Amino acid sequence: MNCAHALLALTCTLIAAGLLAHTGASYRAGTRPIVIAHRGASGYLPEHTNVSAAVAFSMGADFIEPDVVLSKDGTAVVLHDIHLDTVTNVKDLFPDRSRSDGRFYALDFTLDEIKRLRVSERIDVRTGKRVYPHRFPSDKADLRVPTLAELIELIQGLNHSMHRSIGIYAEIKQPAWHREQGTDIAKVVLSVLSRYGYRDRNSPCFVQCFDAAELKRIRTELKSDLRMIQLLGDDAWKNESGVVDESKMKAELAAVAEYAQGIGPDLRSLVRVNTEGVAVPNSAVGEAHRLGLLVHAYTFRRDALPEFTPTYEELVRLYVQVIGIDGLFTDFTDTTVELIDKFAPP
Ligand code: G3P
Ligand code: CA
Repeated sequence: MNCAHALLALTCTLIAAGLLAHTGASYRAGTRPIVIAHRGASGYLPEHTNVSAAVAFSMGADFIEPDVVLSKDGTAVVLHDIHLDTVTNVKDLFPDRSRSDGRFYALDFTLDEIKRLRVSERIDVRTGKRVYPHRFPSDKADLRVPTLAELIELIQGLNHSMHRSIGIYAEIKQPAWHREQGTDIAKVVLSVLSRYGYRDRNSPCFVQCFDAAELKRIRTELKSDLRMIQLLGDDAWKNESGVVDESKMKAELAAVAEYAQGIGPDLRSLVRVNTEGVAVPNSAVGEAHRLGLLVHAYTFRRDALPEFTPTYEELVRLYVQVIGIDGLFTDFTDTTVELIDKFAPP
């Protein structure tokens, strides 16, 4: 039995024994924040592998997050980057297939070629070092890049066998770049989602993207009725001094409310850190809620805390109990579900 099979067997055994089952209360819209498994259970297993998704499912995630890019033959594959060299052994298998910038692009490889790659923990390509040195150690495990369809089949299969309704929270990566390369990633992703029954805002599905123009296009030109989340970076609404510009923030949120159901902000953009190093909530969540927008903040990592919270428990308490977000992206579904059980309103 190889390492991937051993992991899956262990997961299934634990599920069967009830040891990994979601022990907390179930999500109640409007009260309990949803837990979005960021790249699966990426705190424990290489990101975006199907075993990582299965473990996150068993830990009680409400949604599994696939980031999506396209292969050379137009297949939607689950990867965070348009490059393959951050999480796979592409350099070893295809040493002469980089572009002039030295990078290996998923769009230059067929699905068959991508399936030959092994996935391991993310490295920083500039240093060759692991980004999270204390995470999953082996680079020998037989973990592969799933297609979006394969991930959905896994989640829908587990939903069936475990009587759950865990959703898909898909991010369309770099649509403008894909278009420059002659491909239309949004169309491909919507088509896969539709094939598996995710077609309107009652579906257990969100589509997220940093590119506002693409989200508007999805709503208008591509006529999708799926729920959409506008992703926002750390510097959203901030002026040159790093302070939130209230009028800019209000105007931008009002614009988002015209086409999306919510925002996915960097967690840092929701607070101001005062001179004592204490995080004070700004008015963004209140304004978003006034406009009827959900707020799903990213990324909650137990092993990479922001400087303004001493512990992961305090971080989750701040955002759930004080700031009042509606959901969060986390690499650590299990701990986060436990903390939401503790801090979310009854
Ligand atoms: O999609 C929410 C969050 O995942 C955005 O950041 O870079 O991890 O995709 P990233
Ligand atoms: Ca993402």
